[in-house]
Amino acid sequence: MIARLFNAPLGDTETAMGVGTVGSSEAIMLAGLAFKRNWQNKRKAEGKTYDKPNIVTGANVQVCWEKFARYFEVELKEIKLSEGYYVMDPDKAVEMVDENTICVAAILGSTLTGEFEDVKRLDDLLVKKNDATGWNTPIHVDAASGGFIAPFIYPELEWDFRLPLVKSINVSGHKYGLVYAGIGWVVWRTQHDLPDELIFHINYLGADQPTFTLNFSKGSTQIIAQYYQLIRLGFEGYTNVMENCRENMLVLKEGIEKTERFNIVSKDVGVPLVAFSLKGQSFHSEFEISEMLRRFGWIVPAYTMPADAQHITVLRVVIREDFSRTLAERLVADILKVLHELDTLPSKISRKMGAEDFGNVKGKKVKREKLMEVIVGWRKFVKDRKKMNGVC
Ligand SMILES: Cc1ncc(COP(=O)(O)O)c(C=O)c1O
Repeated sequence: MIARLFNAPLGDTETAMGVGTVGSSEAIMLAGLAFKRNWQNKRKAEGKTYDKPNIVTGANVQVCWEKFARYFEVELKEIKLSEGYYVMDPDKAVEMVDENTICVAAILGSTLTGEFEDVKRLDDLLVKKNDATGWNTPIHVDAASGGFIAPFIYPELEWDFRLPLVKSINVSGHKYGLVYAGIGWVVWRTQHDLPDELIFHINYLGADQPTFTLNFSKGSTQIIAQYYQLIRLGFEGYTNVMENCRENMLVLKEGIEKTERFNIVSKDVGVPLVAFSLKGQSFHSEFEISEMLRRFGWIVPAYTMPADAQHITVLRVVIREDFSRTLAERLVADILKVLHELDTLPSKISRKMGAEDFGNVKGKKVKREKLMEVIVGWRKFVKDRKKMNGVC
């Protein structure tokens, strides 16, 4: 069902393959291993070296890609971001591809801003590069969130197996698949894209059982729940849920814009989330807003962007099916209360200025540059306390 949803070429001769995992992280480990093994086999057959594999990604990848790279000894070649552009630039990615690149990983729904990367352009450019070099570099799409969003509300968007170089796709069942935590999926375009030598066959449970997962035993509850949701809600039900999430995201976005205190960093097309930053050079930081919102029961993470946009801090609210319009309105009201309170309180940043880390300028007329220095110092202070691996 999921292979069909991702437009895998399912004919008599072609059969997509897939496996259920604990989440997208495990799915990505498996997909990465398949790319690595395929690349090694090809290099061995050509009599070439095969000890320096690399993956090309944007610097905005989720931490599981860094885990894969470190655990399975693959160099991660990251395309840096820039202010106002928070996803992988496909032109730069293709430029970075070399003969040791096992795949380019594109994200359908960046964790940080929800933006969909341009997989179609990546595919077009890589097809040309492959024609010129003969490297046959494939694409993996990390559709952890977007895999259960795009097929329903952006069916025209070409990001999946309709593109010839997309060989595998992962998706989290426990994100927009609408299942409780502990389920992810990876689908390969055809059985040739998953090297047979990675699949173990065991028969001690009474029949031939092929297995390609990191853990052997696993509960079946999430798989049953995913199956139930797919057949219970169907295409129409998922479409309604995703449309509703999108509408609630727009309500929240509008409410945040109306405060006139924030810039919206997320896009309308993408994962239904709102990522936003304080406008201009505010005396307060996004981290303070995040901390103060906790008092109202909201957990709205604040985090800095990866290289080379680390000077940008954003707050992020992800809209799922249980986040209603009423909740969106209540959140905006609570944000306004926090802003009001911050406006009447002395800035934590300026209070911090008198303290240990940030140099003593207390009692003096505060200059704008000095303030900015302190804001950057404060952000670093909070960032060091709260590792951004918490963003998921
Ligand atoms: C783009 C992306 N990839 C991978 C993951 C990891 O997913 P999981 O938590 O299902 O392992 C996430 C989680 O937030 C994500 O946003």
